[in-house]
Amino acid sequence: MITIEKPSMKPCEDEATADATPHASSLIQSLRDIGYSCETALADVIDNSITAGARRIEILSQVDGGDPALAVLDDGMGMTLAELIEAMRPGSRNPLAERAGHDLGRFGLGLKSASFSQCKRLTVASRRDGVFVGATWDLDEVAATNRWEVRLHSEPGSIPWADRLGKNGTLVVWRSLDRLSGGLDNQPRKRAEYLNRAIASAERHIRLVFHRFMMEDRPGLAISLNGRDLEPIDPFGTRFPSHQEDRPDRLELGNGVVEFQCFTLPHHKSISRADWEDLGGPEGHLRTQGFYVYRGRRLIIAGSWLGLARQTELTKLCRIRVDIPNTMDADWKIDVKKASAQLPPAVRERMRLLVERLTQTSKRTYRGRGQKLVNTEYMPVWQRVQKDGAIVYSPDPTHPVFADFSARLPAELQADFASLIGLIGSTVPIAALHSDFAGCPEEIVADQADAEAIRQMAEAMVPRLVAQGTDRDRIPDILRQVEPFQSAWAVAQPLIDEIIERETGHV
Ligand SMILES: Nc1ncnc2c1ncn2[C@@H]1O[C@H](COP(=O)(O)OP(=O)(O)OP(=O)(O)O)[C@@H](O)[C@H]1O
Ligand SMILES: [Mg+2]
Repeated sequence: MITIEKPSMKPCEDEATADATPHASSLIQSLRDIGYSCETALADVIDNSITAGARRIEILSQVDGGDPALAVLDDGMGMTLAELIEAMRPGSRNPLAERAGHDLGRFGLGLKSASFSQCKRLTVASRRDGVFVGATWDLDEVAATNRWEVRLHSEPGSIPWADRLGKNGTLVVWRSLDRLSGGLDNQPRKRAEYLNRAIASAERHIRLVFHRFMMEDRPGLAISLNGRDLEPIDPFGTRFPSHQEDRPDRLELGNGVVEFQCFTLPHHKSISRADWEDLGGPEGHLRTQGFYVYRGRRLIIAGSWLGLARQTELTKLCRIRVDIPNTMDADWKIDVKKASAQLPPAVRERMRLLVERLTQTSKRTYRGRGQKLVNTEYMPVWQRVQKDGAIVYSPDPTHPVFADFSARLPAELQADFASLIGLIGSTVPIAALHSDFAGCPEEIVADQADAEAIRQMAEAMVPRLVAQGTDRDRIPDILRQVEPFQSAWAVAQPLIDEIIERETGHV
């Protein structure tokens, strides 16, 4: 509600104005709820350190004791007193103002809105050329006084970690962490656990959002958490030789140049399980495929097709890097949190073409592997048949292992055996497989055959291959490609060699 106080009457009534200064106590409160999480709030504070030229950023926390605190300390250019007071002002810069290319800010709001989303007391202390300055916003004080006033500090005094400021640098401290305490103020131990969990979940976000500054700059930006250096997470897996990357592409528009580069992650079989899981993160590869949009090399959107495609199992290795400059903020509708953006229409069409091309490549990566398994040359036990628009998997009753066994059965049991084989085909647990593939596809493996089953299979297949005139030296190579031999080659090889020797009569 706008309260109209003391209208100042001008000569013409239509031109009368009234003071509509916002109420400090309510407006500053509203700033708290623009949708930050702990991780997006911390990232917004880190943005400022990077813009200030920091090479080392320390995230510090003190979760025990009466008043837990969380801080970001940098070695950037620091601030003078006048700059600090300006920095503390909500709306310190006009969003329409032109910014330097490396400036990650836009709204003149992030420091305040990000901090208030998590805490009620924000202290910023800074040094420029060794001169100390400090200021605090205390939301309880603002609520009591209804005045836009910060408290100034001329000494580091009791500001946590202020003694660690270098000759140049800035420290942002959050205290009265009401939003990070989970309502557990009366249970300090549980509150500490709650806080630690929030900080831990922010860790991965920060490793990902700022990975380009950590990896591409020389020297790289170092970010630590309570003294432990954080490793960058590169969502394109470029350190693995088996990743694929296309040539970069660019699109020149009125307000700047958009750059694209398509990547295909390495297949999970070509890297270690730990690396594969780190690449996918807690959400997994299916949910993290898609565009990675960077504004000034800072990640703002991770793993979304932005409405241009669906996240499917076959495209889960596709990731497209999109680089935009801060001159296009209005076109992309960048928000205060730097956590969302919308595709400008001019970019949409180009991105659609890229998506089509990349998803085709990725599908081939999977189909290439799939085809091997259904290659008829290797006589698979299971057959995949497309029938009436449906895909049916069933054991192949003509496969030598079944046919030979059936031939050895008394006539009255042969029909029963055929229906038994048919039963296995018709009871494949499709729904369970589907759900497992959606959740953890890399963990699904076929059951291991025992030595006797491997022998039976080899007994059925080797004589056929010999009878077909297959070169005896090629037989092990062929069988090594198919299950059950492939997964148990150490057991299968001597058995196969023995049968080849018997069937061909020489070693
Ligand atoms: N760590 C820092 N080192 C030096 N100056 C800083 C630091 N943090 C903030 N500032 C100054 O404070 C100003 C306000 O920061 P704030 O995050 O509120 O807005 P912004 O970065 O300009 O824009 P945005 O709202 O998009 O983040 C910055 O423009 C910068 O001049
Ligand atoms: Mg900022």
